[in-house]
Amino acid sequence: MSGRGPGRRPRPAAHADHLLAVDLGAREHYADAALYDHEYRRRRADVRWYRDLARRVLGGPGAILELGCGSGRVTVALARDGHRVTALDQSAPMLAALEARRARLPPSVRERIEPVRGDLRDFALRRRFPLVIAPFNVLEHLYTRVELAACLRAVRRHLAPGGVLAFDVQLPDPGWLARDPARRWARTRFTHPTTGQRTWYSTSHHYDPVSQIAIIHLYYEPERGGREQVVLLSQRKYFPAELEALLAHAGFRVVEHGGDFAGAPLGPGAESQVVVCTVAPRSSTGSRRGGRRAPARPRR
Ligand SMILES: C[S@@+](CC[C@H](N)C(=O)[O-])C[C@H]1O[C@@H](n2cnc3c(N)ncnc32)[C@H](O)[C@@H]1O
Repeated sequence: MSGRGPGRRPRPAAHADHLLAVDLGAREHYADAALYDHEYRRRRADVRWYRDLARRVLGGPGAILELGCGSGRVTVALARDGHRVTALDQSAPMLAALEARRARLPPSVRERIEPVRGDLRDFALRRRFPLVIAPFNVLEHLYTRVELAACLRAVRRHLAPGGVLAFDVQLPDPGWLARDPARRWARTRFTHPTTGQRTWYSTSHHYDPVSQIAIIHLYYEPERGGREQVVLLSQRKYFPAELEALLAHAGFRVVEHGGDFAGAPLGPGAESQVVVCTVAPRSSTGSRRGGRRAPARPRR
């Protein structure tokens, strides 16, 4: 079978290539933690928001499970605020960067961070937390409905009664999704923190409207010549109504669904979807009740 059209399946080889690209795209962007930290060094508003949320939900120092902690951008700020953070990630380079960051912290802060190597889609920590967070597009690494459901089941197993799940993912931008995959975008020049070379950066991407997965290519081209490095990043795009339905299906009740980290409502042009949810209470018939309500303060 080949080609596209109603009833046609993708060719097996093309499908295998797609799956490989998706898998590589969950890892390659995180292989160079120094580069990651350099690229996102100015991203601060989300860190402030997660710190405020922890204060709001926990009322004082408490225990937090952070999924997809990376090199600890958010983790360290929360630990400095007095919280104990169990920080889970699958990437060895990102966890090594977190360890290096931890080593530079005062002992009292360092001890509040517990790094854990694990997979979002299936983890068992044998503990419950009043707050579970997944900052900065982590859930976009769950590529199918089954993967998202598995992660949300694991989250529910780890939430204390009345506990809160908070995360942010991007608001899909139809203009960006439809861009010509043959073109390169966002061309800028910077000094690469790992190679020390002046480097041209650009991106291209291909979005598949059926799987809702964008395969992004990040290009790093040394200015003075040499091999161009191509890094894959794959992201599952979640549309807002779909996301609320998936969360409801997994037994969560959305209590906040904002458009940025400064409190703007979700609307056209928003970059992020900032989501806070709790486990939906069971009705007398045993089904979960939908609708929205204010977040209750969980028991610590
Ligand atoms: C965009 S980064 C966000 C890192 C960090 N939360 C931050 O705000 O800087 C996404 C993180 O999710 C991790 N990740 C991706 N897929 C994962 C999986 N299946 N299980 C655990 N971690 C995963 C990556 O290794 C990476 O560190």
